Amino acid sequence: APVPVVTVDGPGGAGKGTVSSLIAERLGWHLLDSGALYRLTAFAAGKHGVALDDEAGLAEVAENLDVAFPVADGAVQTLLEGEDVTRAIRTEQAGERASQVAAVPAVREALLKRQRDFCQPPGLVADGRDMGTVVFHEAGLKIFLTASAEERARRRYAQLRQAGVDANLSSLLQEIQARDARDTQRSVAPLKPADDAVTLDTTRLSIPEVVEQLTELLARRG
Ligand code: C5P
Repeated sequence: APVPVVTVDGPGGAGKGTVSSLIAERLGWHLLDSGALYRLTAFAAGKHGVALDDEAGLAEVAENLDVAFPVADGAVQTLLEGEDVTRAIRTEQAGERASQVAAVPAVREALLKRQRDFCQPPGLVADGRDMGTVVFHEAGLKIFLTASAEERARRRYAQLRQAGVDANLSSLLQEIQARDARDTQRSVAPLKPADDAVTLDTTRLSIPEVVEQLTELLARRG
């Protein structure tokens, strides 16, 4: 029987990451954070001196990406060539660089098989931009999570402040809008809901409320 897949796509800051890992945990399924692969590709390119406009070089970096996601003390770590980059790939700048790398078709092609390899029994929750439209278009349940850009900026701001990082709300909003524009306007695998996706606007919903709604959708799909 095919391995069941739930895809969770949407713009950055809509809550995909948190919600996807909670759902995966609840179901006991695997989790794919596909954005991390683009962040890692951009990070590895920087490490190896490959420029962000060198498409062939970037594709080679993506093809040879040496990553591991070991679990230590209940938290998932991200290792690149054995080096702990868990925090380093989470900065705004790393996200911006990831979004540039993600616009290169050969990079997306190189990461396709690596992403599909995450589809293992008993099931997979896949978080990204094109999980339902491209990578797992046969998925049984496709969710598109959105929230207003202002709300996403506020969430990001609160996260950063809580982590003790200085942040500026209006520049965060600008960064979010610029990244949305690049992700929705690129020619390959642009950010958009799959035709058969269920769209959920989380602007006025808490994380537990979103998880509740998704759990109900899953139960209804059997
Ligand atoms: O989700 P996250 O912010 O970690 O993703 C970083 C960037 O990677 C996104 O802005 C997007 O450009 C790219 N991405 C993508 N396709 C995915 C996941 C992420 O193009 N499936």
